[in-house]
Amino acid sequence: MYISEKEFPEGAQTLLWSLAISLIIEKNADPEQMLLSYLRKRRILFLSVPLSHSFEIRLTGTKYGCGGGGCGACTVMISTYEPALKKIRHYSANACLLPICSLYGAAVTTVEGVGSTKTRVHPVQERLAKCHGSQCGFCTPGMVMSIYTLLRNHPEPTSEQMIAALAGNLCRCTGYRPILDACKTFCKESICCQRKTNEKLFYLLFSTDEFQPLDPTQELIFPPELMRMAENQPKRTLFFHGERMTWISPVSLDELLDLKATYPKAPLLVGNTSVGPEMKFRGMFHPIVIAPARIPDLNMVKCTDDGLTLGAACSLSLVKDILTNAMAEFPEEKTKVFSAVLQQLRTLGGEQIRNIASLGGNIVSRKSTSDLNPILAASNCMLNLASRGRKRQIPLSDIFADGVGNNTITPEEILVSVHVPHSRKGEYVSAFRQAPRRENALPVTNAGMRVIFEEGTDTIKDLSIFYGGAVSTTVCAKQTCRTLIGRHWNKQMLDEACRLVFKEIALPGSDNGETVDYKKTLIVSFFYRFFLEVSQSLKTMDPCHYPGIPMEYRSVLQDFKTKMPQSIQIYQAKLSQSPQDPVGRPIMHQSGIKHATGEAVYIDDLPSVDGELFLAVVTSSRAHAKIVSIDTSEALKGPGVFDIITAHDVPATNEFYYSDDPEIIFARNKVICVGQIVCAVVADSDDHAKQAAAKVKIEYEVLEPVILTIEVLIIYFLLLFYCFIYLINGREIRIGGQEHFYMETQSVLVVPKGEDNEMDVYVSTQHPAIIQEMVAASLGVPANRIMCHVKRVGGAFGGKLLKAGLLASVAAVAANKTSRAVRLILSRGDDMLITGGRHPFIGKYKVGFMNDGRIRAVDAKYYINAGCTPDESVLVAEVSLLKMDNAYKIPNLRCWAYACKTNLPSNTAFRGFGFPQSALVTETWITGVADKIGLSPEKIREINMYKENEQTHFKQKLDPQNLIRCWNECMEKSAYYSRKTAVNEFNKQNYWKKKGIAIVPMKFPFGLGTRYLSQAAALVHIYTDGSVLLTHGGIEMGQGIHTKMIQVASRELNIPMSCIHFCETSTTTVPNACASVGSAGTDVNGMAVKDACQTLLKRLQPIINKNPKGTWNDWIKEAFEQSVSLSATGYFRGYNENMDWEKGEGQPFTYFLYGAACSEVEINCLTGDHKNLRTDIVMDIGCSINPAVDIGQIEGAFVQGIGLYTMEELKYSPEGVLYTRGPDQYKIPAVCDIPEQFSVSLLSSSQNPYAIYASKGIGEAGLFLGCSVFFALRDAVTRVRNERGLKKTFTLNSPLTAEQIWANCADDFAEMVIGSWEEGSV
Ligand SMILES: Cc1cc2nc3c(=O)[nH]c(=O)nc-3n(C[C@H](O)[C@H](O)[C@H](O)COP(=O)(O)OP(=O)(O)OC[C@H]3O[C@@H](n4cnc5c(N)ncnc54)[C@H](O)[C@@H]3O)c2cc1C
Ligand code: FES
Ligand code: FES
Repeated sequence: MYISEKEFPEGAQTLLWSLAISLIIEKNADPEQMLLSYLRKRRILFLSVPLSHSFEIRLTGTKYGCGGGGCGACTVMISTYEPALKKIRHYSANACLLPICSLYGAAVTTVEGVGSTKTRVHPVQERLAKCHGSQCGFCTPGMVMSIYTLLRNHPEPTSEQMIAALAGNLCRCTGYRPILDACKTFCKESICCQRKTNEKLFYLLFSTDEFQPLDPTQELIFPPELMRMAENQPKRTLFFHGERMTWISPVSLDELLDLKATYPKAPLLVGNTSVGPEMKFRGMFHPIVIAPARIPDLNMVKCTDDGLTLGAACSLSLVKDILTNAMAEFPEEKTKVFSAVLQQLRTLGGEQIRNIASLGGNIVSRKSTSDLNPILAASNCMLNLASRGRKRQIPLSDIFADGVGNNTITPEEILVSVHVPHSRKGEYVSAFRQAPRRENALPVTNAGMRVIFEEGTDTIKDLSIFYGGAVSTTVCAKQTCRTLIGRHWNKQMLDEACRLVFKEIALPGSDNGETVDYKKTLIVSFFYRFFLEVSQSLKTMDPCHYPGIPMEYRSVLQDFKTKMPQSIQIYQAKLSQSPQDPVGRPIMHQSGIKHATGEAVYIDDLPSVDGELFLAVVTSSRAHAKIVSIDTSEALKGPGVFDIITAHDVPATNEFYYSDDPEIIFARNKVICVGQIVCAVVADSDDHAKQAAAKVKIEYEVLEPVILTIEVLIIYFLLLFYCFIYLINGREIRIGGQEHFYMETQSVLVVPKGEDNEMDVYVSTQHPAIIQEMVAASLGVPANRIMCHVKRVGGAFGGKLLKAGLLASVAAVAANKTSRAVRLILSRGDDMLITGGRHPFIGKYKVGFMNDGRIRAVDAKYYINAGCTPDESVLVAEVSLLKMDNAYKIPNLRCWAYACKTNLPSNTAFRGFGFPQSALVTETWITGVADKIGLSPEKIREINMYKENEQTHFKQKLDPQNLIRCWNECMEKSAYYSRKTAVNEFNKQNYWKKKGIAIVPMKFPFGLGTRYLSQAAALVHIYTDGSVLLTHGGIEMGQGIHTKMIQVASRELNIPMSCIHFCETSTTTVPNACASVGSAGTDVNGMAVKDACQTLLKRLQPIINKNPKGTWNDWIKEAFEQSVSLSATGYFRGYNENMDWEKGEGQPFTYFLYGAACSEVEINCLTGDHKNLRTDIVMDIGCSINPAVDIGQIEGAFVQGIGLYTMEELKYSPEGVLYTRGPDQYKIPAVCDIPEQFSVSLLSSSQNPYAIYASKGIGEAGLFLGCSVFFALRDAVTRVRNERGLKKTFTLNSPLTAEQIWANCADDFAEMVIGSWEEGSV
């Protein structure tokens, strides 16, 4: 049948699917609409069962985190029914990439369908919350859905299945440990390490006794209507017409071929994981798409004599299952190809991606990063292609002819199926990949290799080598393979192969910040690894003829695998305390259950306001340029566009002078970085606003100079300032910046109230008062007209201060101009581009020391890349100086810090605020001293550590007793010395794999430098029914502040926590509140809450005294009747802190936290890959108010520190354009990155007289301890270098990525690969 466009049915067809058990009938299904925006933004028409009445609802439990399938925040469960097999399939998927049109006949379960506080909280939700698996809660619904889906398929999963199910879900707060603890409770082999060995010191953070059992019979059933529909209704072609796009879903192969002949340019959409991101992020558009997933031929699975034939629409998960089964069914000899393909599938994407991405899509996209194409091509897989009137079979390798993506599949052709052959006797097949993160990350380079020998010999009969990641598509080392045929599998062949491959695979220059050298070496090292594997297999086959590989080489044949981590948390139990007093107990986060059910409301979950407009920003594409003109004419013509907002629309302040240079809302005449906001579009929908924003044309005249790095800045000013010359010659370390990657992007909803210039501003910020101040100033109205409200923040880490103020001002200016409510939710890409992050840092130093290891003098200079505006950079520079000593007494110190103005987006506060950088510099020179005099780093640390009552470099007194206790306990708990011996032993026995171990102490000063910044206030109301409404100036962003404040109020008022409610932080209830920063929230707000409660209790005391046996409610009733005020404010003046920068002396801090961490790692020298084996942390945090929350903060910060020091790398083009704008390019730690053994102990018997209930503020300190992993890696690299006689001094910069590890293991790796192979070892 031929279908022409004219024959499309006039109207779109109705989309029928289901959410939970309610049927959804969508009459206007738009092919461009993804499930995520549909759930969140559309009022969905439900037809309840039976179809008697309907209702509308917005489902906001499913979150937006990236829009590109990379974070898992939008995970939902899809269920489909297969009538032929009478089987229901449940799988997790990313709603952000799922077109709603693909859901015809499917059932979707969102977090709301799993359970809720109104119906029943599901065991997954309950356990995640009660195991403290949520902090900000933004990732939690996605986590719930991934675990829930796994349990629907496997009610008693193995720990491997559990770990695999979470590989596609990112969490920026928790460090994953508590999430995994919750998961373990469902696993067959419960590996729960929580112990209760000593009543006094060891305690549980949660009790499994409280958990409801998992009862699979209680789960939602598949909607019977859809089942009947699948069984009874013949499948028919579906058409959906949207505003710009038509979706056609044929049911037969012939129909598909006709369509493809008519619309050769229309893509076949199966999983949409390739086309979707291209349309969203790279501006591609397709007016017609064809969805072939329902065609049986494309879903076939056939087992033939010579292999398996798999339909092109089979999902990668299905392929994985089929190959796994085949591995069990066939002898090993026949399954080498299957095994190699499986090897790649295990780490390809996350489970959500594999569940929807198709085999055909992966192959036909021909992406350079395809993990399947190199191995399928090397294995001689065949493609079954069809077009109208023609069928043919071609080798898969043909589609990459000459390595440049020669299009051997014609536009009219479709891939029907793929034949994956059995391997043969004497055939060896392997696949390799190296990615910036072991799981859920596109590869840097990958490879598929196959060799077959003449029977009974090691003479090469056929050889195939394919690489991915090298050029724009998969590439074959054809010449190399041809040349090597007939050669023996030995050292000479290896030498030549490496040389030939190097020569043949020509890599183009880098165009996205990647370095070519690393890829080149990976290309060779993969072949080397293949050589080792095959050599060893030859030995297994015939030990008499083939010696195999040396013992110490064997471990490199094992890839690092992710295991379910084991963990221990230790804190001191409060046994003598009244059972009702919650202080000191591991109380669940006050919003934990709501996080897990998706009921917790974030800014973009707020219901839409009548007439609301959506705002999209237009940003500068130049780093330094004059704005010549802004042409908005095309944008204004766009559908739904309401207006365009520029600097001219700002009624009052567009530039805020918090220091010499301004913070700017809209660029006026010139731009000073790529990503600066130039103007904004407001439209009736998010999509319309974004489409119009892309049409605004800005003409620039480039200005000189464009300064992006500190190095360039120094060189530039060298001409002017002679004194900098000497610095360049010093020893130095570079520390890269870091993206906050809070899971909730910057969000604001501004609602004009229609009178007296009043505005409600709902905003995701850590500092409502500054938002109020900036919005009021930009509009030219008094602050009393602007009401800022913050319920909770989906992660902030320092990134939602001034930047949030500028964005709120943008939205407020738009709301003011249009008199409409305006919603601004930054996309992940825009957020990363615009809002800056942690300051990149260069530390230059000179150190004077004695040959016994005592440090006598340090001269250090820090250069901080501030970006294009000051923001908090000068403060960051100051803090980096004040905290640079870390745990060491430095008798003579000179240090300087420079905040350098460049043309990068302005950098800002980030957890640790300069300390993680300057203390890393310190630990680097400590290690350098150790190298120099031949003592171990831990000895140098011990020699120079603060020992008794001493003074810091700014003459503040400190008592380091607890620092030493932490260090000693950490030494002991980690069994440091015996493990160091074991590491040495391992290293002697392994050549390509090495282990490293390091222990690092920490002193973290607490304080904000001046009194007024730590003042705080609270407001407590008691209502006549006895319930208490508590508010204070702190912001809940995951750190559990509201939970702790309720604990404080509960203790002070002596009532259960359940009587106390926290609603929101608002400028209307607590004015002029200081920012929630610097770990100070609980300290200062706790004092204020305590003060308010004590005021109230004082008023109630006479009533209580009169009726001591009365209840709380009796007393409150009586108080009301006696006209006693039941509302009180509480206030804390702040800490008396000061610093005289002229003298370099002061008391800028109130107290000190201490800690120590020991980490052990293992590296693979061939690839630079590493595995975090074990971390032990001991931390002095005084008397913890809530050990579960505090341990969560330590672990979360520590894992963020692992990200900072070992993984997270921001990449810019030479023109200052940020390349790393999403989880695809920027890798934060995932489940696979946390240590296999992870223990945190809180130092016992520690008191702090300065903070509430003797606690200590803990939010930031743990991040620095992530550098113990950096130094463990350094230790491993040092051992490699020592063993190979490489030069002694070397510098490792941060982040210490796989590429850097690899680069420092050898000067010329390729040469080493060949040169180190000892004669006759094979
Ligand atoms: C977050 C994320 C992580 C990822 N990680 C990895 C990874 O680690 N390794 C890796 O290899 N890949 C990775 N991918 C890529 C993913 O595997 C591919 O995008 C996917 O396999 C493509 O399949 P699809 O069904 O989604 O293709 P679609 O996007 O639906 O289609 C892709 C293209 O293939 C064509 N096509 C599809 N089927 C046929 C057919 N039968 N005949 C002819 N043409 C066809 C379409 O016309 C279209 O041009 C990742 C993707 C995402 C989004
Ligand atoms: S929002 Fe869908 S994966 Fe990130
Ligand atoms: S709790 Fe996971 S991102 Fe905040």
